[in-house]
Amino acid sequence: MSVGRLAVLTSGGDAPGMNAAIWAVMKVAAARGIDVVGVERGFDGLVDGAFVDLTRRLADGSVAPISGLEGVAGTGGTFLGSSRSARFRDREGRAEAARRLADAGIGGLVVIGGNGSLTGAHLLATEGDVPVVGIPATIDNDVGGSTDAIGVDTALNTIIDACDRLSDTARSHHRAFIVEVMGRRSGYLAMASAVAAVADAVLLPEQPAPEDQVVEELERVLRWSFSPERNKPRVLVIKAEGVPTPVHRLAERLAGRVADLENVSVRTVVLGHLVRGGHPSFHDRLVAGRLARAAVDALVAGRSDVMAAWEPNVGEPSVDPKVGLVDLATMIEETERLLDGTSEVTVRRIRLMKEARAVLAL
Ligand code: F6P
Repeated sequence: MSVGRLAVLTSGGDAPGMNAAIWAVMKVAAARGIDVVGVERGFDGLVDGAFVDLTRRLADGSVAPISGLEGVAGTGGTFLGSSRSARFRDREGRAEAARRLADAGIGGLVVIGGNGSLTGAHLLATEGDVPVVGIPATIDNDVGGSTDAIGVDTALNTIIDACDRLSDTARSHHRAFIVEVMGRRSGYLAMASAVAAVADAVLLPEQPAPEDQVVEELERVLRWSFSPERNKPRVLVIKAEGVPTPVHRLAERLAGRVADLENVSVRTVVLGHLVRGGHPSFHDRLVAGRLARAAVDALVAGRSDVMAAWEPNVGEPSVDPKVGLVDLATMIEETERLLDGTSEVTVRRIRLMKEARAVLAL
């Protein structure tokens, strides 16, 4: 990289492991002799030029992280702050952001975030002069081209811990719980946690169904599960946020239809933002570190408009066997296919899920 100064920002919904990624960007860049500045509040802060030094020069000329940040890699959230910036969505806002980078003498930007943030990174890379490289980080796991995004593993661990706790109380009272998990348009968290938490049913946006049909299906699951013959102690239904019927309406309708069943009740829990917090898991820290290394090295190699991806299904390999580089334009196309159900990845997930559903309902 011609200018030995790099900027890093986190954008969109925070995800556990974002701090580990920032930390790794700092450490890898410092090891390559590059100074690092953090951008506060994501793209909003970039438009304002809200830069903070994350590294300092030592007496021998080498680069090291500033004091006070040791241990940050193991914490949740993002210490730089994040935003969903309306100003950056306008071309003028992005031009201002590009000017801020150039004025600060920054020769490369690392953007850590989900598909919306990485789309912003693509626009900045193509409209401005400063090279931009992305790192996927979102609990939703909806960044096309990357098998895993930073934060997904921790979110899943939190969900299954919550489901285990809910199952304890559900078994004690012979109850059905409908648990809603985040994910926006993606059903990945619901899908993966349903298998790991041994749910009895799962509702996914990738398999849309009319509300009446959903209620009928859940009634069947409850009647069978609580029948004297099957005699399950609890029923757990995991609903993805992207399925439009609210959990309370599902529970009300369901309770009305199984009113004849003795000693059976239905409860709901929306896990919501709980799942976005907490210390990142080993896997998220590992992915964060390895993607950060690839992102910094891509900038050093003069690359721009690419994303460092974990076990990518497209793009080019890197020296790290688990990590590759994917063009951000390809990421955008792959994301759309992932969410509209036409991607081979989604087709495979749904095929597997159909099979898993039958097993879960047993
Ligand atoms: O993209 C991450 C995510 O947590 C989604 O799962 C959810 O739909 C959305 O962000 C919630 O956004 P906010 O934090 O703005 O309420």
